[in-house]
Amino acid sequence: MAFETIIVEIEDHIALIKLNRPDALNALNSQLLRELGRALSEADANDKVRCIVLTGSEKAFAAGADIKEMSEKSFVDMFLSDFFGREGDTIARTRKPIVAAVSGYALGGGCELAMMCDFIIASDTAKFGQPEINLGVIAGIGGTQRLTKFVGKSKSMDMHLTGRFMDAEEAERSGLVSRVVPARKLMDEAMGAAAKIAEKSVLASMAVKEAVNRAYETPLSEGLLFERRLFHALFSTEDQKEGMSAFLDKREAQFRDK
Ligand code: CAA
Repeated sequence: MAFETIIVEIEDHIALIKLNRPDALNALNSQLLRELGRALSEADANDKVRCIVLTGSEKAFAAGADIKEMSEKSFVDMFLSDFFGREGDTIARTRKPIVAAVSGYALGGGCELAMMCDFIIASDTAKFGQPEINLGVIAGIGGTQRLTKFVGKSKSMDMHLTGRFMDAEEAERSGLVSRVVPARKLMDEAMGAAAKIAEKSVLASMAVKEAVNRAYETPLSEGLLFERRLFHALFSTEDQKEGMSAFLDKREAQFRDK
């Protein structure tokens, strides 16, 4: 079934997913999140895909959850449908690396979506924010939790309580994004990072994701044990033998995901 709210292109082992609701600044409605979840699951299952890039438009990565769709809903509607719970879980469960390429507004659910990716490359025009307080609600797809882990309590409280936007320079300084580049270079930078990732063993990339994400969810001692076990387990793969032999032979490794 074709997608209506996103565009997916797969080339050179990279799945590029572009949010595509330009009239609503890529506001996240149920259809978009469902389609995004499906595209990510398909990319995860596609042997040709080794890295995913998620992006929006120059003006907006995504301006938040769709306020028009939500405005008339009651508590019972939201609770019974577990609004965005399942969709958020599907996105966060993707095992292949996802790079977010963010230009313009990444607000509310848009900021939360970017934070669900593995790292964020921002253009110098990017603006991040959790302005849900202006609508009389709070973040609902992980913003209070993930932003706090990224930037610490004080700045997270500031963002959530005042609803102010953070520019790209502040976002990089605070640890929310990994790189900031001029807007015209954003896609080249993100695709370049994805191409680098796509050269590696998918086994090792997935292990990195599992181990780094454990840092958020477990005490240090558990995280260290989990990391060590994954490190040990990778010694059962052909890619470990290939990677280390290639280094010793002074040649490029040819990973085969085995
Ligand atoms: N939902 C639905 N439609 C949205 C939207 C949103 N989150 N954000 C923008 N749009 C729509 C506007 O309604 C407008 O549509 P029309 O032309 O049909 O009126 C169109 O996109 C363009 O938007 P603006 O005219 O407002 O553009 P602007 O350049 O003047 O302002 C903006 C840009 C500052 C991003 C402003 O659109 C804005 O403040 N948007 C809302 C941001 C927000 O509050 N996000 C949080 C949503 S709640 C949430 O995300 C909850 C959660 O955690 C799950």
